[in-house]
Amino acid sequence: CSNVCCVFFFLIFIVDSAPFHLGILLTTGNRWKVMRCFSVMTLQDFGMGKRSIEDRIQEEARCLVQELRKTNSLPCDPTFLLGCAPCNVICSVIFHNRFDYKDQHFLYFMGKFNENVKILSSPWIQICNNFPVLIDYFPGSHKKLLKNIADVKQYVLEKVQEHQESLDMDNPRDFIDCFLIKMNKEKGNQQTEFTTEALINIVTDLFGAGTETTSTTLRYGLLLLLKHPEVTAKVQEEIDQVIGRHRKAVLHEIQRYIDLIPINLPRAVTCDIKFRNYLIPKVRLFCPHCPSVLLKFLYSQYGFNLQPK
Ligand code: HEM
Repeated sequence: CSNVCCVFFFLIFIVDSAPFHLGILLTTGNRWKVMRCFSVMTLQDFGMGKRSIEDRIQEEARCLVQELRKTNSLPCDPTFLLGCAPCNVICSVIFHNRFDYKDQHFLYFMGKFNENVKILSSPWIQICNNFPVLIDYFPGSHKKLLKNIADVKQYVLEKVQEHQESLDMDNPRDFIDCFLIKMNKEKGNQQTEFTTEALINIVTDLFGAGTETTSTTLRYGLLLLLKHPEVTAKVQEEIDQVIGRHRKAVLHEIQRYIDLIPINLPRAVTCDIKFRNYLIPKVRLFCPHCPSVLLKFLYSQYGFNLQPK
C-alpha cells in the first residue's frame, strides 16, 4: 500500500521543542481544548458568514479548471496545480485572499511546506525517530525542517501585523481577524491562551495539516478515477442528479485505499488502556499505526480493489 501513498513519518523530537507547545496539532490539555474549540467554531462560522468556505472552494475550483483547460487535454503532471488549489483555499480562509499560482509569495510559502513534507517522508527522519540522540549531534535535513518552519512563522507574523493595522473589529475578513478580535476581548486576562504566538502556531498548523493531506487525496482520487471508469461514470451520474450517497462512498473509499497518513500524529492516552495484547500507559506518547486498521482489517474485508459501496 505504501507505494501509493505519501509516507509521512512524524518527527517525535519536535513535540518536545518549546515552540511547538502552542497551536493545535501538538498541544494538549486545556490549551488544546481552547484552541481547537475556537478554530472549529470560527471555521464553522465562515459557513454562515458573508463569504462562506464553500464560496472560496468554488472560486478556487473555477481557477483550477481554467488552469487544467490550458493543457488542452494533453498528458500532464497535475501535482503542482493540485497542490496550489487546497493551499489557496486555506490562504483565502486565513489571509482573506487567494493568490495567483505564479505569485512569488505564494510559491515561497508553499515551497517551504512541500520541502518539509519531502524531509518528513525521508528515510533519514525514520532513523532520527528511532535514534533521537542523533538529532543533537548530526547535521542533516531535520535542521532544514526547523529552519523552514521558522521561515513560515516569520511570514505569518508579517501577515498578522498587516492585519492588525487594518483590523475592523465589526467586520472580520478572515481567520486571523477573528483571532485578533478574540485577543482584544481577552486583553485583561492574564491566563489567556489568545496570544500572537498562539495565532502564528495555529495558522502554521492549519496549513501544515490541511495542504498536503488534501492535495495528495485529490491527486490519488484523480488517478483512481482514471483507472476505474465505471466508478467515475457513477460519480458523474450522481453529480448530474445532484443527489445520492455514492459520491461520499467514493471519497471514503479513496481515503481507505491510499492510506495517506500511515503513522498518525503523536498522541497520548489519559489513562492506562489495554488494546489487543498491548498496554498503552497513561500519558506516554505513541503514534497510532493506521495500516493495522486499513490493511489488516479493511483489506481483509474489502480487498485491494476500489469498492465504493
Ligand atoms: C484529506 C484531507 C485530510 C486528511 C486525510 C486529514 C487527516 C488527519 C488526521 C489523521 C488527523 C489526526 C487525527 C487524530 O488522531 O487526532 C488530523 C488532524 C488534524 N487535521 Fe486533518 N486531514 C485532512 C485535512 C485537513 C484540513 C483541510 C485541515 C485544516 C485546514 C486539517 C486540520 C487538522 C487539524 C488542525 C488537526 C489536529 C486536530 C487536533 O489535534 O485536535 N486537516 N487530520
